[in-house]
Amino acid sequence: MSEKPPRTGALRIKPVEDILAQQADDADFAQEHGTLRKNLGAKDLMGFGVGIVIGTGIFTLTGIEAKNHAGPGIVLSFVVAGVVSLLAALCYAEMASTVPTAGSAYTYAYATIGEVFAWIIGWDLILEFALGAAVVARGWSGYLANLFDLPPALFTEKAPVNIGAILITVVLGTVALVGVKESARVTNVLVVIKVVVCIFVIVLGAFFVRGANLTPFIPASRPVEGGTSGLTQPLSQALFGIQPTAFGFAGVLTAAAVVFFAYTGFEAVANMGEETRNPKKDLPIGLLGTLALCTVLYVGVSFVVTGMQRYSQINESSPIASAFDSVGMGWASALISIAAVCGLTSVILVDIIAMGRIGFAMGRDHLLPPSVAAIHPKWGTPWKITLGTIVLVAILGGLVPLKTLADMVSIGTLFAFVVVSLAVPIMRRTRPEMERPFTVPFSPVVPVLSALACVYLMTNLSLETWLRFVVWMAIGFVIYFGYGKRNARLGQKKGASTR
Ligand code: ALA
Repeated sequence: MSEKPPRTGALRIKPVEDILAQQADDADFAQEHGTLRKNLGAKDLMGFGVGIVIGTGIFTLTGIEAKNHAGPGIVLSFVVAGVVSLLAALCYAEMASTVPTAGSAYTYAYATIGEVFAWIIGWDLILEFALGAAVVARGWSGYLANLFDLPPALFTEKAPVNIGAILITVVLGTVALVGVKESARVTNVLVVIKVVVCIFVIVLGAFFVRGANLTPFIPASRPVEGGTSGLTQPLSQALFGIQPTAFGFAGVLTAAAVVFFAYTGFEAVANMGEETRNPKKDLPIGLLGTLALCTVLYVGVSFVVTGMQRYSQINESSPIASAFDSVGMGWASALISIAAVCGLTSVILVDIIAMGRIGFAMGRDHLLPPSVAAIHPKWGTPWKITLGTIVLVAILGGLVPLKTLADMVSIGTLFAFVVVSLAVPIMRRTRPEMERPFTVPFSPVVPVLSALACVYLMTNLSLETWLRFVVWMAIGFVIYFGYGKRNARLGQKKGASTR
C-alpha cells in the first residue's frame, strides 16, 4: 500500500506526524488562536467518561424498554449493548493512545481513510454530542418537574417549548465556556453522587427483588400493538419483511439498540487527548475503566428495577424511583430523583465540552472556518464553537421530542464506531511502524466484529431515524464540497498531496 502514489482531493490523508506536530509546535495557529491546556490525568478522564455516560439511558430508557420490548430481559439488552461498546472501546483505546489528539474519530479518519470521511465523521459527531446534550437537557427538565411539581406545559415532553431544557443548557454552557479544569471539578462532584446512587439502588433494591417479577425472564414474543406503521419499524424489518414483534429474544435485541444510548459518550474521553498529561497511559485507562464501571452498574440497576416491580407496572418516566415507591420506600425514591437531576447535569456539561473539542479540531484543519476554532486567551477554551453549540443545543432541546433526538444520537454514534473500528486494521497496514502503547487483541478479527456488531444494532433502529440520518449526512456532503474541500489546510500545504 505504501508504494501507491499519495492520495489527492477528497481522499487525501493527513499524516499522523502532522497531527502530532500540529499540536506540539503549530506556532502560527497557537499565536493567533491559542492552544489547549494540558491539565488532566486518568482520574479526571474517568470522571469525564462516567459523567457523560450515565444519564438518561439508565434513568429513563430502562423503564421504557423493559415495559415495551424486553421485560426483565432488559438486563441482557444492557449486556449486549455493553459488549458492542466494549469492542468499540478497544478500538478507540488503540487509536487514542496512538494518536492522542482533540477530535478523536474525526482525526483518526483523517489519518486513515481520507479527508471526506473525516469531515463526515465530524459532522456525524455533532449528532452525538450536540443532540445528546439536547436529549439529556429534556430528560433533566422532566426529572426536575417531577421533583418539584413544576408545570408540565413548560418542563416536560408535553411542553411546546421546553423552558427547563433551554435554561439548563445556558447555565452549563457557561460553565463549559469558562474553563475545562473548572468543568472537570464540577463534573467530578456530580459523578461521585451519580455512582453512589447507582450502588445504593443496587444494594438496597436487592433486598426487595422477588423471583416472581423476574419470571419469565424473557416474556414470550407477541405482535406489536397496532401492527407495523411504516416509518417507525426497524430497518431490518423493512428490509426483510419480518412482522414486528415485541418481547421474545428479538425484543431483547431491539431494546439493546435503544439502550445502547446509555453507553454513548465514553469515547468523549478520547477527545481529551491534547489536554491529558500522559495520554498514552491515561487514555486507555480512562476509556476502558469508564465502560467497565458503567456496564456493571447498568446490569445491576436494571436487574434490581425489574426484580422489584413487575415490568408491566413500571413507570416510564421515572422507573428507578417508581420501583422504590412500589415497595413503600418513598424517601429512597426522592433521593434517587435528586441524584438523577445531578447525574443528568454532568452529561449535558461534558457533551458541550466534547462538541467544542471536535469543532476545534475541524476548524484547525480549515474544514470549518479557522476563526471558529479560536481559543479564548483567558479561559483557554474554544469559545466560539462552544457558544455555537450552546445555541444549537438550546434550540433542539427546546423544540424536538426526546425520543427522536435519542435515536439520532444512537445512529450517529454507531456510525462513528464503525469508522473507528475499521480505522484500526487500516492504520496497522498503512502505518505498521507507529508506536502503539495499547493494541486491540486479535486484530483484525475484533475490529471487524466490532464494526459488524454496530451495523447490526443500527439496523434495529427505525426507518425514520435512518431517513433523518441520511438527510443530515447529505447536508454534510454539500458543506464539505462547497467549503471544506477547497479550504482544507491539508490542500494548501506546500508538498501536500492535493489538487
Ligand atoms: N449515555 C448518556 C445517557 O445515557 C448520553 O444519557
